[in-house]
Amino acid sequence: MNNRNSSARAGRPQPLCRLRLAALGVAAGVAATLAGALGCDRADPDADWTAQEVRIIHSLSPLPAVPPSAGNRHADDERAARLGHQLFFDQRLSGNGKVSCATCHKPELYFTDGLLQARGVGQAGRNAPTVIGVAWLPFLFLDGRKDSAWAQALGPLEAEVEHGTDRLAVAHLVSQHYREAYQSIFGPLPPLDQAGRFPPHGRPVTLDRGHPHSVAWAAMAAEDRMAVDRVFSNVGKAIEAYERKLRPQPAAFDRYVAALKAGDAQGGGHLSASARRGLRAFVGAGGCVNCHNGPLLTDKGFHNLGLPQARTASGELLAGVESGRGRGAGLVKQDPFRCGEAFSDASSCQELKYLNPLFEDFLGAFKTPSLRNVAMTAPYMHAGQLATLQDVLTFYRTLPGQPRAGHRELSLQRLGGAIDDADLLAFLQSLTGPLPPAPWVQPPASLAP
Ligand code: HEC
Ligand code: HEC
Repeated sequence: MNNRNSSARAGRPQPLCRLRLAALGVAAGVAATLAGALGCDRADPDADWTAQEVRIIHSLSPLPAVPPSAGNRHADDERAARLGHQLFFDQRLSGNGKVSCATCHKPELYFTDGLLQARGVGQAGRNAPTVIGVAWLPFLFLDGRKDSAWAQALGPLEAEVEHGTDRLAVAHLVSQHYREAYQSIFGPLPPLDQAGRFPPHGRPVTLDRGHPHSVAWAAMAAEDRMAVDRVFSNVGKAIEAYERKLRPQPAAFDRYVAALKAGDAQGGGHLSASARRGLRAFVGAGGCVNCHNGPLLTDKGFHNLGLPQARTASGELLAGVESGRGRGAGLVKQDPFRCGEAFSDASSCQELKYLNPLFEDFLGAFKTPSLRNVAMTAPYMHAGQLATLQDVLTFYRTLPGQPRAGHRELSLQRLGGAIDDADLLAFLQSLTGPLPPAPWVQPPASLAP
């Protein structure tokens, strides 16, 4: 949808309908009758909103049911979710025994870590996004280099700077500590206790051809490697089942929209006047909804905002890969765990079929993040370039400099002077809901110290 250049005021109902009858002291019932008698647009429950605004606002809430998983037939198995819950918090799944998924996706920080760039076994170069709501995303990671949540979960386990472990170590850990739970969901484990066949560590060649773990992996029989890959992929599938429990919870904004839809022109009083002005800018002149749309407030697409080069916590310029979606689209097509490969349960791979990694606008583009709970997940952008929401708005207002890779998206225009930052902030804050239900946001009892 492109309403940036169309007047947000076009199509307003008759001026009388805009008269705030309630504000004039007319009782709600009388006001409704009066509005009806004046012939106000019935599709426009709040006479303050244009029909076009109403249409867009209605499209932003509520969150629909979780869509089916891409290629994981265990995604909605409660037992898999419980196993995934344990794996998510288990620090034994790391090279140094100190890192779990929850190290960087901390429940109390809405599954982020508060750092500019995440830190695990080593220093990562990207800001940790939230895990809440990933069930709705067709492409995972900020450059979309994975096409399912279960395949995504395998990445950090073998990333040197994150968990720094390997798939054979993970399979052994599952066999030692989660044997029953695993086998009840996924069937028998391979005979991992046969030391000659299954060394303690092993993973395919990534960076270092001569690494002992890669050498050990290459020496294994092909079907044994396949059996380990199956266990590894099932670990991802259990974690995905857990992540599907982490859904954004209703926020003040959702209560406001629900009340509007129910015919209450005041939206139940759930948004302040300032937040309503922010909402109007968001869906209109501010142009935000061009990319932050739908109930997750993301188009799930990739855009190059032309952000400033990131700095590390100690202030040095960060030399990271900035090709973004250009690189991610190529990587997802080569991923051995992608849709269409041996470990996926999916029957059709539409999303990948039409993906062209050479598409020019992919260069330097990163995924549009959901804005649900955004006030709780500072700092912002793919490498923590912007510290606060105010900094984000200042960026959209000034659009300084040029990106290091590709070019800034041409449709992106500076936020106009008539829009008040305080109003947009009030609106963004109205998107904060509570954390997902308690059992899922606490470490599982079995791992309690
Ligand atoms: C060292 C910190 C760290 C650890 C440990 C870690 N992550 Fe992440 N996570 C990140 C960062 C940083 C990104 C973004 C990286 C990128 O896009 O290149 C990310 C991205 C993600 C995403 C993608 C979200 C999106 O919007 O696309 C998911 C899901 C996720 N992690 C889940 C997990 C799971 C599951 C584990 C454990 C197996 C895990 N993470 C371990 C830091 C971490
Ligand atoms: C052209 C598409 C586009 C438009 C228009 C747009 N955004 Fe974004 N927004 C993005 C993308 C893409 C990112 C992430 C960029 C990155 O990390 O490189 C982002 C990031 C953000 C973030 C940081 C979220 C986080 O978790 O890091 C906020 C807040 C935000 N946008 C708010 C807004 C507001 C408010 C507007 C309107 C003034 C707006 N955006 C307009 C695409 C857009």
